[in-house]
Amino acid sequence: MATAQVAADPLSVYEHIAPYYDAFTAHHDYELWLGNLLPAGERLGLSGRRLLDVACGTGKSFLPLLDRGWQVTGCDISPSMLAQAQAKSQGRARLEIADMRSLPCFGAFDLVLCLDDAVNYLVTLEALLSCFSGLRRNLAPNGLALFDVNTLLTYRTFFAETHIQECPLGRMIWHGQACPATGPGSTVEATFEIVSDNGGQERTSAVHRQRHFQPEEILAGLERTGLACVAVFGHGLDARLEQPLDEARHTKAVFIARHQSADERR
Ligand SMILES: C[S@@+](CC[C@H](N)C(=O)[O-])C[C@H]1O[C@@H](n2cnc3c(N)ncnc32)[C@H](O)[C@@H]1O
Repeated sequence: MATAQVAADPLSVYEHIAPYYDAFTAHHDYELWLGNLLPAGERLGLSGRRLLDVACGTGKSFLPLLDRGWQVTGCDISPSMLAQAQAKSQGRARLEIADMRSLPCFGAFDLVLCLDDAVNYLVTLEALLSCFSGLRRNLAPNGLALFDVNTLLTYRTFFAETHIQECPLGRMIWHGQACPATGPGSTVEATFEIVSDNGGQERTSAVHRQRHFQPEEILAGLERTGLACVAVFGHGLDARLEQPLDEARHTKAVFIARHQSADERR
């Protein structure tokens, strides 16, 4: 059976994975995750209910907030991911196609989220800076930007492992190509293969390319784009926020930032 190869850019790989995405990530508990992230934001001054969810995908990262009465705008590079978000939110959220490397100003938001390693698809520092500028562009004066990145532990485990899951649409095969000793700042790949049965088996494969960003690179990038980091957390699969971040023990690093003050800009 020949395998059709999808181009490795984020748009193509998410157009490919879109029908399978929710099944593949069914174990990601956003009530639990956001239930820990939001109080952390509130302790840092988060108030208001205007949310911009950057790289919102199928809507998993904004639906719990939509259900709690937040006014939600979501954007993503992939129309097929957004179509699923649209189906779930049924007109209650404003959804826009946008590349986070060149985000327009959609408004002034109390909270700008970018969740579940979307930032790691930005494989250059230039793209990271462009993304941070876009987050800042959309922040209300007292708003908070909150995003996560994968840690070294994630690249040394999930991105170095093979996982096979079945769903009604077919078989999903995640094949991490990273090595268990992946070093800081590495760019790594994993193939996501779908074997579907459309009256004869079809096999398609896409390469997910991500870069590990070192915490210092993130902090320097925030500062260069006019943002001040107000907290860094690490957490494992239980989503319990801990400090300090430990790249060898936590699967995700979470950063929270706000506009720099006039003093910090000098
Ligand atoms: C792992 S998914 C996370 C989706 C959602 N935030 C969640 O938590 O379920 C990553 C998302 O990032 C989006 N993405 C990747 N690169 C992007 C870019 N340059 N601009 C906008 N979206 C991008 C993908 O289309 C995908 O929906």
